[in-house]
Amino acid sequence: MASFSAAAVTTTTAARRLLPAFTASATNLSYRSSLSLGPASARSSHLLNRLFHSQKSSLRRFSTGRIGYSTVSSPKCAASNPEQLKSAREDIKELLETKFCHPILVRLGWHDAGTYNKNIEEWPQRGGANGSLRFEIELKHGANAGLVNALKLLQPIKDKYASVTYADLFQLASATAIEEAGGPKIPMKYGRVDISEAEQCPEEGRLPDAGPPSPASHLRDVFYRMGLNDKEIVALSGAHTLGRSRPERSGWGKPETKYTKEGPGATGGQSWTAQWLKFDHSYFKDIKEKIDEDLLVLPTDAVLFEDTQFKEYAEKYAVDQDAFFKDYAEAHAKLSNLGAKFDPPEWFLIMILVTLKNLRQPTGKKDMCQNVMRKTIV
Ligand code: HEM
Repeated sequence: MASFSAAAVTTTTAARRLLPAFTASATNLSYRSSLSLGPASARSSHLLNRLFHSQKSSLRRFSTGRIGYSTVSSPKCAASNPEQLKSAREDIKELLETKFCHPILVRLGWHDAGTYNKNIEEWPQRGGANGSLRFEIELKHGANAGLVNALKLLQPIKDKYASVTYADLFQLASATAIEEAGGPKIPMKYGRVDISEAEQCPEEGRLPDAGPPSPASHLRDVFYRMGLNDKEIVALSGAHTLGRSRPERSGWGKPETKYTKEGPGATGGQSWTAQWLKFDHSYFKDIKEKIDEDLLVLPTDAVLFEDTQFKEYAEKYAVDQDAFFKDYAEAHAKLSNLGAKFDPPEWFLIMILVTLKNLRQPTGKKDMCQNVMRKTIV
């Protein structure tokens, strides 16, 4: 049972400047979660019901006016509170340390954002990072099999920090998972608005298939629709350095291998890499070498070394981890913003993520975060 008193939550001057919609009235918030998680063996429909009940209760509480705005009656939900985002990040780190759930949190963030269609202008019809994946109807899409478990892990954090949107929480969790697994710092921004009802979820079929008849053109169809290019397709595919595929979820992979029979975390499935909780460039090395039958290569992974344009990047990433990290970080940040509506429109940064000290400058160029931070925070 999670409990949270926000009496200690105060808006800093910088945060007030960055997020005018948020006022000190948030200090009124006192919230006690009604969610208590069932045993691991609970049937997912039962779990879904409880999660959705919890979400509805949380929305009802949220609309009482105690924190100054409502997410229910207005389609313009105020987006996340920077202080709560920072605390949520710490909770996510703790979750990662205890549950080893880095891969599924990355997949959750990707599947929320990856429904984006650049040819549709209207929000939320265009899809993307808008928290729609919390709704049962979308979780039941074939491509999302198993992701209810990721929602189950994050729901207590969402309940604890009511002023963090699902859309931000999913992307925060994914970026934090990459970073905590040893990957690059992702130049994230926050303030994504949530959709408010299941009717606003995208239709099924916007995410890629793992075994289409023509993998290269399928990947281009799907990722170009999101506004991503060949380099970004290859770099993002490198996220499969983490995690496993499970036949009972996606239909792909072995039930168990020498790398997955003992966990950590839940056992089973087939991983793309031997150390599937470590973010590095071994995904590209392993596909190229094709030496271990216990490691997974989906048709959409194999094509990265077959298609001439994809191959250029895949070969580079197989030998140059720094190049992979740089391109991955940029592509991941872009993916996390797809289709998102930001409130305030100029969005904001979690200061802890973007201190000048920590900023990576692999190209030697000033990056967007640093410029924005100078303008708005310092
Ligand atoms: C290129 C097209 C892609 C295809 C066809 C694809 C397909 C799949 C499939 C079939 C699984 C196994 C799911 C399961 O059985 O539980 C999976 C897992 C995963 N995918 Fe992808 N994926 C793609 C791109 C991406 C991207 C862009 C990311 C992130 C940026 C990503 C991150 C992950 C992660 C981390 C897992 C492991 C999840 C876990 O261990 O629970 N994938 N993907």
